Amino acid sequence: MKKTLPVMIAAAAMIPGGMVMAEDLQSYKDRFEPLPHLPPIPADNSMTPAKIELGNMLFFEPRISSSGVISCATCHNPALGWADRIPRATGHDGQVGERNTPTVLNSAFLGSQFWDGREPDLEGQALGPIEADVEMAMDLDVALERLTEFEIYREKFAEAFPDDDDPISGENLAYSMAAFERTLNTPNSPFDLYLSGDENAISQQAKDGMVAFVDNGCVACHRGPALTDSQFHAIQVPGSEDLGRYLVTGEESDKYRFKTPTLRNVAVTYPYMNNGATETLEEAVAIMGEEMLGREFEQETVDDITAFLHTLTGEMPEFEIPALP
Ligand code: HEC
Ligand code: HEC
Repeated sequence: MKKTLPVMIAAAAMIPGGMVMAEDLQSYKDRFEPLPHLPPIPADNSMTPAKIELGNMLFFEPRISSSGVISCATCHNPALGWADRIPRATGHDGQVGERNTPTVLNSAFLGSQFWDGREPDLEGQALGPIEADVEMAMDLDVALERLTEFEIYREKFAEAFPDDDDPISGENLAYSMAAFERTLNTPNSPFDLYLSGDENAISQQAKDGMVAFVDNGCVACHRGPALTDSQFHAIQVPGSEDLGRYLVTGEESDKYRFKTPTLRNVAVTYPYMNNGATETLEEAVAIMGEEMLGREFEQETVDDITAFLHTLTGEMPEFEIPALP
């Protein structure tokens, strides 16, 4: 997008010392890290093709919910940025939960899982939604019994966990889902291409946005490959009474603290915030300025940062739409 002269002067004036020259942009780029193709892989859960295939099937398997109609993909829908595009998740019996569904894309890069970080890793996370009353409301043993009825699951679990005598277990269900989720990464976004030397991969406005993102301090919390510090920060989102991290630790100082979400693919994972009350990225950027940095941004700064955030949408992962028994 070509800017008119007065607008350019305004943009330049916002940056102390005037326009950021191309060579100086390097020091800004140095504040970021490209997204690797693979996340860290735990020593006790290697990513074998058999395990990934089983995890892929189970992710789409509604039989592990008590109604038989809700799968992980109901809320983490691949067509909707692996989230659900509604403010708060709707689960078993149409119940609406308290929180917005985060994307599972790049979730293996996070230091902990859920808005309040109550699970350390994807293995620990996977069984939660199956048993949660507002999500899939299922007794895990019943879920395992249902799967055991099918020859194909008996085969696939045995292939994925060849050393186990009794491979259809809750633990293996969690391990295979986690292995599958570790394949759901989105490298090669325009911003990653820019970081690796393609100067034309992102627009001038997005470059201005990158500069504003650093100069205003967004990068203090949104940093590292997934643009999150995986830490918990206090924010009182309009319309939310959620106590956040406090519900996990019971520490007074953790009230209203939430995990910094990834900004990878944030342009496609609306609505925003832990309760999904914020519809547009522009609003989310303005709220961050006010709540986290105590600044009221000019519309132009909001637009530049938003343009930058749009460059964080990467290549969507390959997966199978499985043929379930
Ligand atoms: C009813 C909708 C729903 C279903 C079904 C569901 N989820 Fe979620 N998922 C959510 C919501 C809402 C959260 C955030 C909850 C919280 O933070 O307390 C979440 C959080 C997560 C996270 C953490 C991501 C992050 O950024 O912290 C992962 C990973 C995840 N779900 C995977 C799964 C898997 C695997 C399944 C199937 C076993 C599943 N989900 C089923 C709605 C759902
Ligand atoms: C002090 C740490 C901190 C700073 C600084 C910060 N953020 Fe955040 N950001 C967070 C946390 C925590 C959340 C989650 C808020 C919630 O609970 O809904 C968040 C949420 C967001 C979201 C919504 C993402 C989603 O999926 O819902 C966007 C977009 C965002 N931040 C962008 C920015 C921008 C742009 C800046 C700079 C203007 C910034 N943030 C500064 C910690 C921070």
